[in-house]
This record gives sequence, structure tokens and C-alpha cells, in this order.
Amino acid sequence: MKGIILAGGHGTRLHPITRGVSKQLLPVYDKPMIYYPLSVLMLAGVRDILIISTPADLPQFRRLLGDGSDLGVRFSYAEQTEPRGLAEALIIGAGHIGDDPVALALGDNVFHGPRFSQILRSRLPHTEGCLLFGYPVQDPERYGVGEADEHGRLVSIEEKPRRPRSNRAITGLYLYDNDVVAIARDLVPSARGELEITDVNLEYLRRGKAELVDLGRGFAWLDTGTHDSLLAASQYIQTIERRQGVRVACVEEVALRMGFIDPDQCHRLGAALSTSGYGRYVMDVAEAVRSERQKSPV
Ligand code: G1P
Repeated sequence: MKGIILAGGHGTRLHPITRGVSKQLLPVYDKPMIYYPLSVLMLAGVRDILIISTPADLPQFRRLLGDGSDLGVRFSYAEQTEPRGLAEALIIGAGHIGDDPVALALGDNVFHGPRFSQILRSRLPHTEGCLLFGYPVQDPERYGVGEADEHGRLVSIEEKPRRPRSNRAITGLYLYDNDVVAIARDLVPSARGELEITDVNLEYLRRGKAELVDLGRGFAWLDTGTHDSLLAASQYIQTIERRQGVRVACVEEVALRMGFIDPDQCHRLGAALSTSGYGRYVMDVAEAVRSERQKSPV
């Protein structure tokens, strides 16, 4: 399974902040926004990830993330020169996808919830059709909106409908079989001139191969699109992290727990950031895992 994170766009609703920096590099409390979708892909076991952004912003993503070897994964980079739609990521990423299925994650989507990594891992490798994740919201008209039958089969999907048929927003994590590249290449731009991810999903629906998993109300799928929602997302993460003493979407910890790196490497990564609480947390996690493993070696 290959991964793609789309971190393009101009983030105009966050101007003037995003005139100087990519939206997906802005902090959600203590780490860059892109760490959240990145940790989702890593928790799903995806280790070969293409990051797509604008020509102006791509160098900053490279500076932050490098080639991924520190985390035991592989990052590559590609440009989206104009915001021509989310589905264009699947065309830009065609060479990266090759003959594999792919998980596409939007760089500004923050997920946090019980057993999410188990849900993802139980559904992978995903080799047939498309798998979408729905989340109940009170303003579905702002999103792709889907409806499923009692078997979880997608029965309708619309992009930002004026009269939504359900309150299920389609979140920005999409798992596709390899047909997706051909489907994306056949798309025609929508009225707003973009290749819509909803049209990709609609094609899977037509083929009877689209499934919608309901993330449910006990889950958090946070909006980061406006100044207020970005602050609220930061406060949510701060609340959870302070209360539990854990860090959400700490990519070094994820890499360690997934077995991509060992405790020594994790400790080195933390030590390089040790003037921050984040870095000290990474070192503490490395120590804790090391001693757990010494007690019960695998
Ligand atoms: C995009 C998709 C939409 C989806 C949303 C999730 O919307 O077009 O279907 O629900 O991402 O974040 P956008 O954020 O580009 O308006």
C-alpha cells in the first residue's frame, strides 16, 4: 500500500497567516498539522509516502520531513503547480502508486479517536474498490456528504450539497484499489474547475465498490480551516495531551511503536529536539519502550 498526503492549496481562509507559510505546516498545538495525517498513514502501516504541495511550499516540507529514513519510512515529494483539485493528486502520484493500492490523506485533516489504528490495520491491505470514512457533523453542506446502506455500502455522495441527504461528512482519508489512477485520469473538471475527489468516489459507487465506515460520535475529526477552528483544534489536542500525559500524532512515537525504528533511534530523534517538551517526551517514550522490551523481550 502506497500513501499520498496532499498538502497543496493556498489556504485563503487563513490569510494572512498562509501568505507566509503553508497551512499544513501551521501548528496544531505542539506539532505541524501534517504530522496528524502522517501518523494516520504510519499507523495504518504505510511506509512509502508521497507528499504533494505547491512549488513554493514543497522545500519547507522537505526541510521538516527529509527522506523519512530517520523514521524508518520513505518520503518522496511532488509539485501540484495549480490547485486543480484533490483528485489530481492521484494523477500526479500515478508513478508512485505503480501497481499498488493507495491511501490518500489530506494534509489538513486531524483525526483522533479510540481504536482508529486497529480499524485501519484491520481494513488493510485494501485491494478492492474504495473505502471512505464518514463523520457526523452539524454543517454537512461544507463537505462531501455520503449515505450508506445497512451493510456500509455507499449509496449516495455529493460535494457540498445545498440540501444534504445526511449529516455524514466524508473525511479526508481515502483508501483505493489500483483502478483509481485510471478513474482519476478520466475525470472532467467540475463547475469550479477542479478534479473532484467526490467524482472519483462517485465512480466507485457506480461500480458498486464503495464502502463507507462510520467513525461515529465518540471520535474527533477536527476542522482546521478557519482561525477559530484551528485554535479549537489546538485546544482539543492540548486538553487531551495535558490530561493523559501522552502526545497525539507524535510521529517518532508512532514509528517506534510500529517497529519502524528501535528505541535507540527514537531516543536520538528526541535528543535532537530536547529543548522542547516534545523532544523530551520522545526521549521518555524511547526509554519506556526500551525497559518494557527488556522486561518482556519479544
Ligand atoms: C475536501 C473534499 C470534501 C471533503 C473534505 C474533507 O473539501 O472536497 O469532499 O469532505 O475535503 O476535509 P475542501 O476541504 O477541499 O473544501
